[in-house]
Amino acid sequence: MNKVLVSLLLTLGITGMAHAAGDPAAGQAKAAVCGACHGPDGNSVAPNFPKLAGQGERYLLKQLHDIKAGSAPGAPADAGRLVPEMTGILSPYSDQDLADLAAYFASQEMSIGQADPALVDQGEALFRGGKVELGMPACTGCHAPDGEGNEPAGFPRLGGQHAAYVAKQLTDFREGVRANDGDTMVMRTIASKLSNKDIQALSSYIQGLH
Ligand code: HEC
Ligand code: HEC
Repeated sequence: MNKVLVSLLLTLGITGMAHAAGDPAAGQAKAAVCGACHGPDGNSVAPNFPKLAGQGERYLLKQLHDIKAGSAPGAPADAGRLVPEMTGILSPYSDQDLADLAAYFASQEMSIGQADPALVDQGEALFRGGKVELGMPACTGCHAPDGEGNEPAGFPRLGGQHAAYVAKQLTDFREGVRANDGDTMVMRTIASKLSNKDIQALSSYIQGLH
């Protein structure tokens, strides 16, 4: 199922949503309000605020549309992606503004953190091998062996991302709190096979991955 799913997603990714080209310089000028939480260049300091620097442009743009829809004041609970800290922040931004912001953060470079040495073996085994007994694919198939992701397909970069943020996303996907992974439910399905210990090991490993 892995290969079929991956190639299906790749096809959808490449032929799906066409988007207006973003302008990184225009995006930088619009990013001042983001810097307080995500860092001026997108390398946030606080571990619960995701790094945006060097994240795939296509993935960023999708998240911005999802967050704009899901975090507008009074948005229905099942719309897009709810980020309470960003309530209303994206409402004034046009589609072109969002494209520019995505282009700006994508043009920066993500800093790399450190993995807990005690968790590397377990994290690496899961990241590269998945859980065969549960039919859970390896993360590498979509997020790449070095965690770089797959920009054209819209699969996010993971390598270097804060462990606390990654752990929260995997837990949110598992509980269905984050549900913007599309009709294929790819991340909700994968996360449903992960224990809390798995999530801790994977997140630590990912923080140091490059
Ligand atoms: C008050 C703090 C705050 C501000 C200001 C803020 N964000 Fe966020 N943002 C967050 C938090 C917290 C999350 C992650 C929430 C979660 O755990 O799911 C997030 C998530 C995101 C994500 C998803 C990242 C990913 O890897 O999926 C993007 C993209 C993003 N923000 C872009 C922006 C942009 C662009 C701006 C400025 C226009 C901005 N944010 C302003 C706090 C903030
Ligand atoms: C078949 C492809 C596929 C596989 C395999 C896969 N992922 Fe994902 N992953 C995705 C897609 C697509 C998204 C983006 C969903 C969206 O648009 O919100 C994603 C999003 C994520 C995110 C959120 C990133 C962010 O910045 O918020 C994390 C964390 C993640 N995956 C971790 C993993 C881990 C860990 C594994 C292995 C256990 C894994 N993924 C396996 C396709 C995959």
